[in-house]
Amino acid sequence: MKKIILTGDRPTGRLHVGHYVGSLKRRVELQNSGAYDRIFIMIADAQALTDNAEHPEKVRQNIIEVALDYLACGLDPAKSTLFIQSQIPELCELSFYYMNLVTVSRLQRNPTVKSEIQMRNFEASIPVGFFTYPISQAADITAFKATTVPVGEDQLPMLEQTREIVRKFNSVYGDTLVEPDVLLPDNKACLRLPGIDGKAKMSKSLGNCIYLSDPEEEVRQKIMSMYTDPNHLKVSDPGQVEGNPVFTYLDAFCKDEYFAEFSSDYQNLDEMKDHYRRGGLGDVKVKRFLNQVMQAELAPIRARRKEFEKDIPAVYDILKKGSETAREVAAQTLKEVRHAMRIDYFEDLELIQSQAEKFSQQ
Ligand code: TRP
Repeated sequence: MKKIILTGDRPTGRLHVGHYVGSLKRRVELQNSGAYDRIFIMIADAQALTDNAEHPEKVRQNIIEVALDYLACGLDPAKSTLFIQSQIPELCELSFYYMNLVTVSRLQRNPTVKSEIQMRNFEASIPVGFFTYPISQAADITAFKATTVPVGEDQLPMLEQTREIVRKFNSVYGDTLVEPDVLLPDNKACLRLPGIDGKAKMSKSLGNCIYLSDPEEEVRQKIMSMYTDPNHLKVSDPGQVEGNPVFTYLDAFCKDEYFAEFSSDYQNLDEMKDHYRRGGLGDVKVKRFLNQVMQAELAPIRARRKEFEKDIPAVYDILKKGSETAREVAAQTLKEVRHAMRIDYFEDLELIQSQAEKFSQQ
């Protein structure tokens, strides 16, 4: 069986370093590994509209931001198909058929949808489209026969839902769809990078993000203002490393070679952590080191973004071509789905013939 990747992001803002370590970095590695037959990266504008129906302009403006972030990180249109969800109407049709295979109570149990409903204070006024987006996400994944979906931890319930839909579809209509596997980051710190304020999640609405496209000085200011261990008041105090965002970021970004490059006091992160735990290592010093590490990681991304920003029409063209390619693939799957569901009446000459015979005998 072919190895196919599909994944994507909602275009509701620029992408941040949480997106990067949680998924983007991995996608680029997978792309460059050559181990996959096809890679589809989707800008999920239709899904973004499920809770932004009144803000279409926000979604529209952020398509290019996300595309630039993708290209800046190293996603390469020669190797990966970058496309826009709403340009693939086949996805709507698939969703419509999958809706028959999912119960309302099953959707209500989806933990990600549950927490998003709370976060948005929807409670009594949940848009139907938002409530059912896990079904549309199953359409996104299955339309491309994805075997592998690299995502952050919060997307696990969506994958579970997709797998259920696939199993149900195949058992009712015969083997047609492919059951995908999820691919989570293997570094625990990357599963959910906290905000710079120490809150569990980096999120635009909380204003606690470091964006991939933030200028150098802004990144530095954000890092120097980061929340750390509140009980580590004096440099000589013992400090806590666990749950301390500065160290979580180092866990996510730091490589041993950065110690040789920027901090001759330690060989590796474990030594630095030990010193912090013992006392005698100040937050400012750790933050300065983190800033050097992050700048080293972000500089090439920032530089590549600047290059792509010089020719925006070319970026739209990449998305247009990608959407055309993606549409062909989705159309083929939809054809197979219609056939399996026995709704391909006009292609089914046998049906027409047998009905003709039936009526001629009456
Ligand atoms: N739900 C994802 C997010 O919020 C975006 C998304 C839409 C997606 N469809 C997908 C991710 C299919 C993976 C596969 O970021």
